[in-house]
Amino acid sequence: MTNSNEMAVGSRESLKFVEAALGAQKGLKILEVGPGSGELASALQQMRHGILVVEPSAGFAEVCQCRGLDTLVEPWPTKLPSRDFDAVLFVRSLHHIGDLSAAISAAHEVLRAGGILILDDFDFKNVPANTRVWFFRCLKRLEKRGFKFSSESFPGQLLATDNEFGCWTRSHDHIHEYELMEQEIAAQFEVLHVAEVAYFYRYIESGLAGLRDGKRIEIGLEILRGEQDAVSSNKIKWLGRRLVAQKALA
Ligand SMILES: C[S@@+](CC[C@H](N)C(=O)[O-])C[C@H]1O[C@@H](n2cnc3c(N)ncnc32)[C@H](O)[C@@H]1O
Repeated sequence: MTNSNEMAVGSRESLKFVEAALGAQKGLKILEVGPGSGELASALQQMRHGILVVEPSAGFAEVCQCRGLDTLVEPWPTKLPSRDFDAVLFVRSLHHIGDLSAAISAAHEVLRAGGILILDDFDFKNVPANTRVWFFRCLKRLEKRGFKFSSESFPGQLLATDNEFGCWTRSHDHIHEYELMEQEIAAQFEVLHVAEVAYFYRYIESGLAGLRDGKRIEIGLEILRGEQDAVSSNKIKWLGRRLVAQKALA
């Protein structure tokens, strides 16, 4: 069984959010769309919820299966026989799904009346210049301390370019904007809760190359705290967004 202290900081933070959204009830029927390596889904399964994951990447799907997760290796939206899920989760996955409206309709279709859609994502479009500069300086400080980022990661790309703002735009131009996701959800669900949260630490935690997990978690926590402090002292704005929405009861 995974100890939550061994989870990536990003997954741990998502788990706290999802647990709060689900409430105290156990044995819920949950669908996670785009679980990646399935760390969050696996933690929810260990808490005695019933989990199905839908993951189109064969590599990620295999990791999910190895964790013992019931896994459909397909892109969302897809047809499911069940229409009685208590919750559908999209953690940093909805922004990748081409037909947003179809993705949200399909989630609506598989939820029971009163079931909830949970979104954990980020708003890359509305990031002020000083916030981007703060992130870039953070990366530079980590680089000076000897940390390396994989070349395909967003931090790795930012550090390798002489046009940071151009790189920011290019690396996010193929994904949906948060505002659009919220609008589409609000068109089909009742939005119960929206929050702004930390997110930059997730880029750093997942982009760090060649680190053992314990060190990666340590740096992830350090950056998360730094990000929270920088927002509290009004130096930067939150990048992360979280939303909970409910399907009508009747
Ligand atoms: C940034 S990763 C997030 C993974 C994980 N949820 C996390 O937060 O660590 C995006 C995930 O969305 C998945 N994805 C992309 N397009 C998808 C689609 N059409 N249907 C379902 N999942 C999709 C990817 O394969 C990947 O697992």
